[in-house]
Amino acid sequence: MTVTIARENAIAVVTVDNPPVNALSQALRQALVAAVSTLDADAAVKAVVLICAGRTFIAGADVGEFGKPPQPPHLPDVVATIEGAKTPWVAAIHGSALGGGLEVALGCAWRVAVPSASLGLPEVKLGIIPGAGGTVRLPRLIGPAAAVDLVTSGSPVGAKKAEGLGLIDAVVDGDLRAGAIAFANDIAGKARPQPVSSRAVAPVEAGFWEGAEKAVAGKAKREAAPLRALASVRKASETDFASAMAFERETFLELRGSEQAAALRHVFFAERAAPRPPELAGVTPRAIRSAAVIGGGTMGAGIAAALRDAGLPVVLIERDAAAVERGLANVRGIYEGSVKRGRIPQAVADERMAGVTGGDDYGLLADTDLVIEAVFEDLAVKRAVFERLSAVCRPDAVLATNTSYLDPDAISEGVSHPERFLGLHFFSPAQIMKLLEIVPTEATAPEVLATGFALARLLGKIPVRAGICDGFIGNRILKVTRAQAERLLLSGATPAAVDAAMRAFGLPMGPFEAQDLGGLDIAAFQRKAARERGETPFAPVADRLCALGRYGQKTGGGWYDYQPGDRAPKSSETVAAIIAEVAEGRAQRTWDEAGIVDAIILPMVNEATRILEERVALRAADIDLVKIHGYGFPRWRGGPMHHAEARGLSAVVAVLDRLAADGLAEPPSDSLRRAAEAGGFSVLAG
Ligand code: 3HC
Ligand code: NAI
Repeated sequence: MTVTIARENAIAVVTVDNPPVNALSQALRQALVAAVSTLDADAAVKAVVLICAGRTFIAGADVGEFGKPPQPPHLPDVVATIEGAKTPWVAAIHGSALGGGLEVALGCAWRVAVPSASLGLPEVKLGIIPGAGGTVRLPRLIGPAAAVDLVTSGSPVGAKKAEGLGLIDAVVDGDLRAGAIAFANDIAGKARPQPVSSRAVAPVEAGFWEGAEKAVAGKAKREAAPLRALASVRKASETDFASAMAFERETFLELRGSEQAAALRHVFFAERAAPRPPELAGVTPRAIRSAAVIGGGTMGAGIAAALRDAGLPVVLIERDAAAVERGLANVRGIYEGSVKRGRIPQAVADERMAGVTGGDDYGLLADTDLVIEAVFEDLAVKRAVFERLSAVCRPDAVLATNTSYLDPDAISEGVSHPERFLGLHFFSPAQIMKLLEIVPTEATAPEVLATGFALARLLGKIPVRAGICDGFIGNRILKVTRAQAERLLLSGATPAAVDAAMRAFGLPMGPFEAQDLGGLDIAAFQRKAARERGETPFAPVADRLCALGRYGQKTGGGWYDYQPGDRAPKSSETVAAIIAEVAEGRAQRTWDEAGIVDAIILPMVNEATRILEERVALRAADIDLVKIHGYGFPRWRGGPMHHAEARGLSAVVAVLDRLAADGLAEPPSDSLRRAAEAGGFSVLAG
């Protein structure tokens, strides 16, 4: 970390260089305070420009320090020191001024930014609130309504919008350093604006806070930070600066030590580690400049849209001319939906669609860099596709399958240059869901695996490496989720009670509602295949429902009944009767919400430890990312593995032992017991 001071006549330029993102480590905080006293002692300096080296302005407090006791100088004092400096400071912002970075800028007398800069207070996304005056200075600078939006959403705004809000004083086109120095020269002789801390907060309309509280609570669900952030902005608007600062700091420190903040920090670092697995360090991926998708159904169309959204030209291959038309219509439908929801303008949709070429001639793929297969889940059909691809594609073209359950090793049998083959498992809807499971075969070359990770980065997805097994990481755990949900039904719980408990835990939908939405037929097909392999999947009630043609919403009934045109699930007497029949002779009990959640989540964790032990997943955090980004596991719980560790693995083992004794779950695996003894999953990974 370096902080250097340069002189441009009467202007001093303080440059912060603390890679990678100029986070406010203790050393940087100290250096900023020192810079203020050095420059205040220099009468020749009329104004100070604060600028950062590297890709961004100060991106916030150092999140890595959050697990430890705060060390002085504390950030609120650093900001106060800059605000109270004799010589006025000008923040010169490029990249992101986030969290503590924006708070430092709020301490400066002026703020300027390049047009591409973004500014925000993302603390709520880390389970905390701003802790250095963000909630107190912001309403004084831009008014309470705009401050509430910024602070409770955590979403940054661009420089133009920031200028409109009064958050920055000028947008600098061209060179930031030169522009900021010119700005500083310009203001050096002028009156200094009143420090933000001593400004009054604009009044709000009657009912404003109540309305804001309702809106924020509705969005936050069970996340604590957004409402606490709102309370802090309100306090700042209703009391003096010092009391508001004390209130903010107290809330910040309390939340910093909370379980939700620890979980969100865990996910923050897991997401940043995921794109760069250490085992691929130094491996150069193949270049991807063009892509093709085989099969234009649900997944193929979504994958084509994801590839187009990343700027790649895409060829979509289907079986015949009519299927090509249907496939293109599926892609068009995705873009029409985006236009309708206001996500993109029509012109962008047209441009994206123009970059998708449909056809049934594999000759179109002679020069394509990457081909992703998304045809029917049928080994023979997929093999036939790869046989044709082997014949027409360049030998270095990367070939991928989007299979859900088939064995990629079996699919790739006979592929020429098998080192260029891998599984790329997208999640539906593929243009939206962030998860990409990357599945190497035994033959996959390291640079082809690295290409999968590079593709994820290009598509803005979270990559997780998965080994080959039935369902890879995510769907293998999903099978346990569903089996446990059925075990609960056979021992006294109802589908509605199970779904309600899982929603209360934080999932967007319970397991039965989710199956009704997606269709029960897909899982039934998987079970049939598993039985043919000699396995014994547990789904006695689902099997009965499928035998009756109750596949979910699309057939007017599944786990629930549905009225025509109404997606609201209604408890079904037919289903209740089937459950009673299948449950005959089994012990019944009363389930509360916590019991239901344990009986579903902890067996998922048990399966996940086997997945780790078998090295189907390399890191526990990868499993957390799979469940969060592929299956809606609540981010603020950190994923199932973090949840289990936070709960205490010995307690998890004890619950599983009890459930197993009652025949309600598999007993804890040896690996889970070992992890419990060691106090964490790290003993199973690496
Ligand atoms: N603290 C510590 N490390 C951080 C960090 C932070 N605030 N922000 C990013 N990093 C690290 C990442 O872990 C990553 O490390 P690695 O290279 O070892 O994996 C590295 O910086 C680069 O991060 P990204 O891959 O995310 O880089 P990008 O260029 O894609 O994005 C960014 C840059 C937009 C700044 C993004 O990193 C980001 O959003 N960071 C978080 C910003 C944030 O949340 N700030 C608020 C912190 S809380 C706070 O300030 C409290 C205050 O109110 C008291
Ligand atoms: P789908 O049935 O909607 O689409 C399959 C498409 O492939 C159809 O349009 C069909 O015409 C086309 N097709 C079939 N044979 C072909 C061939 N020989 N050449 C060219 N096109 C051919 O199926 P869906 O849901 O899109 O699934 C595709 C693959 O993705 C499957 O392997 C499935 O397991 C997998 N998958 C599905 C997910 C889902 O949620 N639907 C999630 C992740 C993976």
